Amino acid sequence: QEKINSTSPSYTTGTYNNETVRIAALSRVIPVKSKPVSVVVLVAQTRTGQDAVTDRVANTAAALGIGFFIIAGILSWIAIQSAVSPLHKVADALGRRGAHDLRPLTHPVPQELEPLVGSLNSFIARLRGALNRTETFITEAAHHVRTPLATVRAQAEIALRQTETDASRKTLRSVIRAVDESSRSATQLLDHAMVTYRSDQMTMNEFDYSALVCEMIRSAAITADLKDLTIEQEITGDIMVWGDRILVENALRNLLDNAIKYSPPETTIAINLSSQHHQNKPIAQLSICDQGRGLGGMEQSSLTQRFGRGSNVKDIIGSGLGLTIVDEVTKAHDGHFEISARTGGGTCALIQLPQH
Ligand SMILES: Nc1ncnc2c1ncn2[C@@H]1O[C@H](COP(=O)(O)OP(=O)(O)O)[C@@H](O)[C@H]1O
Ligand SMILES: [Mg+2]
Repeated sequence: QEKINSTSPSYTTGTYNNETVRIAALSRVIPVKSKPVSVVVLVAQTRTGQDAVTDRVANTAAALGIGFFIIAGILSWIAIQSAVSPLHKVADALGRRGAHDLRPLTHPVPQELEPLVGSLNSFIARLRGALNRTETFITEAAHHVRTPLATVRAQAEIALRQTETDASRKTLRSVIRAVDESSRSATQLLDHAMVTYRSDQMTMNEFDYSALVCEMIRSAAITADLKDLTIEQEITGDIMVWGDRILVENALRNLLDNAIKYSPPETTIAINLSSQHHQNKPIAQLSICDQGRGLGGMEQSSLTQRFGRGSNVKDIIGSGLGLTIVDEVTKAHDGHFEISARTGGGTCALIQLPQH
């Protein structure tokens, strides 16, 4: 009773109808017929009712929490997507480029990505510069190496004609041979460097393969004539090839060079060019068959290796890079190259290049 007299309500736990209830009590004095009467107001709630309220509050809080979590998740996903999508576009643009496309990236990007694209572009520019310098270096090196060697050779030839003693003649002949060897090696090394460089940066064109083969045969005819070799050619006209003309020319030069070099005098070299179908695709097939010394039983894989030479060719100058060049060029064109012993003696080189 004492407690209830205060102005703020007081709380107790009691029992009502055999159920535990929580009671709030408040007393007030109100006038009844001009007399003050003290009134106590009791409000009770069963414990189950209270639990229900607590549950409701907890459930609402949980639902709100999960709701906010989902909304936050969706918003952060959207934020990440919008931040990452320009990066994806840049990656796509780079991925779609051909292997030789070294243009700067001009894709519009958000301001935050500009430094990245800027450094990427300056990297591309440096790479382009380095590649251009490589090409210039290869052509200049070829020139700088061959010119002095040619001079040395000419001087040695003059000396050989003027000298009387056999000993000096012998020495001078070996000097000339050494010069020829180094000149050849230098040329082949640089050709090989050029082929490796160009295989990465092929300039693909459709060109007249028949015309190229005829042209190569014409220029090889001079050396073939020196050995009285007969070149029998069977060439179908107008065979086009899709490829890098300079690379193909290099490969052909090496094959013709070998056929002439390894043929004994007064023999025949048969050259055949035709268009064939292989797995429903047109291919240009060129075969160069000689009546020379053959491959001495050596495998193609060891002959196409860098500096790989046969065991039966020690007497003939060579660098062992010719077939390496041929092999690399055909591979770069998705073509096929085969060198094998010819029935009846000699060697057959077969090179197939796709026409489209
Ligand atoms: N037409 C051929 N006749 C005989 N042997 C050949 C022929 N073509 C290539 N070879 C063999 O393959 C080797 C590798 O050829 P290549 O790479 O052109 O080097 P090389 O500078 O020796 O000619 C040669 O050393 C030779 O043994
Ligand atoms: Mg060779």
